[in-house]
Amino acid sequence: MAAGKGTRMKSRLPKVLHRLAGRSLVQHVVDTAAELQARQVVLVTGHGAIEVEAHLAQSTRPGALFNPQFVRQEPQLGTGHAVMQALPCLADDGTVVVLSGDVPLTRADTLRQLLSASGGTRLALLTIDFANPTGYGRIVRVGDAVQAIVEHKDASPAQRQITEVYSGIMAVPAGMLKGWLGRLDTHNAQGEYYLTDIVKFAVADGVPVVAHRIDDALEVAGVNSPVQLAELERAWQKQVALQLMTDGVRLADPARLDVRGTLTCGQDVSIDVNCVFEGQVSLGEGVSIGANCVIINASIAAGAVIHPFTHIEGGAPGSKDTVEVGTGALVGPFARLRPGARLGEQVHIGNFVEVKNSTLAKGAKANHLAYLGDAVVGERVNYGAGSITANYDGAFKHRTTIEADVHIGSNCVLIAPVTIGAGGTVGGGSTVTKDTLPGALTVARGKQVSIPNWQRPSK
Ligand code: UD1
Ligand code: CA
Repeated sequence: MAAGKGTRMKSRLPKVLHRLAGRSLVQHVVDTAAELQARQVVLVTGHGAIEVEAHLAQSTRPGALFNPQFVRQEPQLGTGHAVMQALPCLADDGTVVVLSGDVPLTRADTLRQLLSASGGTRLALLTIDFANPTGYGRIVRVGDAVQAIVEHKDASPAQRQITEVYSGIMAVPAGMLKGWLGRLDTHNAQGEYYLTDIVKFAVADGVPVVAHRIDDALEVAGVNSPVQLAELERAWQKQVALQLMTDGVRLADPARLDVRGTLTCGQDVSIDVNCVFEGQVSLGEGVSIGANCVIINASIAAGAVIHPFTHIEGGAPGSKDTVEVGTGALVGPFARLRPGARLGEQVHIGNFVEVKNSTLAKGAKANHLAYLGDAVVGERVNYGAGSITANYDGAFKHRTTIEADVHIGSNCVLIAPVTIGAGGTVGGGSTVTKDTLPGALTVARGKQVSIPNWQRPSK
């Protein structure tokens, strides 16, 4: 169910598209369904339907078992009405798991337990005890047996004392669900079709109703406001940090780490404070990440050191645009690696150096204030401070090749396409427009002229 408005987010973005750990809330729910190997996923959309549908259609992940199907609920007449919209999509022989698009942290394992509680023959409710159950549907039991869910607004004072509440998640045999939904009405305090009313129909029909009671409130926590979104984000990040530390990663402060994707670490990795990892990032054995780095879609090999304030932004995982940092490389502080930057072993990239779509071979160095774009840089090249590849002529991108053992002086402009021959030297301040010979010294700048005893003009 993802049709609700989410007024308290006070946002133009539909609530279920707000992000938690880099994924939209509804994507978390769809991914959990995928983990359960659901036969199909049906999304009930309403508010912001076009945006929600477009988002999910394009974010369908590689290896997904299904493409989500969409049904519209307009207007929104309650949770029972929401599920009614999905009925035509559902085969009678399946079990329906009802989830909310704004409840992102339910574990697939919990849902598996709920499914086995249903067993294809029973109505299974996910429930939890809340010290303050205000607002929730109460689980009304007679003896041990569940008799009904009574919504807070419809509950008697005695029923409001009940602390066991319905989480909003159930597993129900599809055939039974179809029959029960046809019997819903709106004779209640909110004038809505309550999905929760199917419990009393199950009881009337002699179908067992089982409550699977859990105690981790995070699993059923919904997002209704920016405050709740931030709380769940922190809770998620805390779990990620604990797992990393359990695996041996040394975090300077687990409360100051954000992983918005998948971070894979070898042995003896250490990560200083305030680092953000997005997409797919892997850190090899002994990698050290300084404070305040942002690292997106990159693979960083063993022993590399990323100094503070480095920004690494690889393109889509699996594409040629990811970033690779070789064994023992040193990067930063204040370096920027953009899509397609590939650094070999022992490469050094220093402060205020930007590298885009360029390969640097073993031992190449660009230590200060430089730009390398669309370049191939050979082994042991030394690329001087302030030098740039002029790779763009206003219409097309061109490549620069710098062969092994070249020294490029400071403040050079290499106008692509151009090749600097192996072992060559380019004098500082040169603007190089033509290929150079191996081993040559190339100087391409105004010759120095000194006029002796020069008198400056005076008034
Ligand atoms: C519902 C349950 C309540 C439970 C609570 C848990 C009902 C009648 N009540 O209450 O027992 O304790 O969840 O949070 O089911 N939605 C639609 N279309 C609608 C109405 C809702 O798609 O017409 C979606 C919402 O966007 C949301 C979910 O269904 O994702 C739950 O709706 P919400 O209004 O939060 O349910 P409650 O009335 O709070
Ligand atoms: Ca609610």
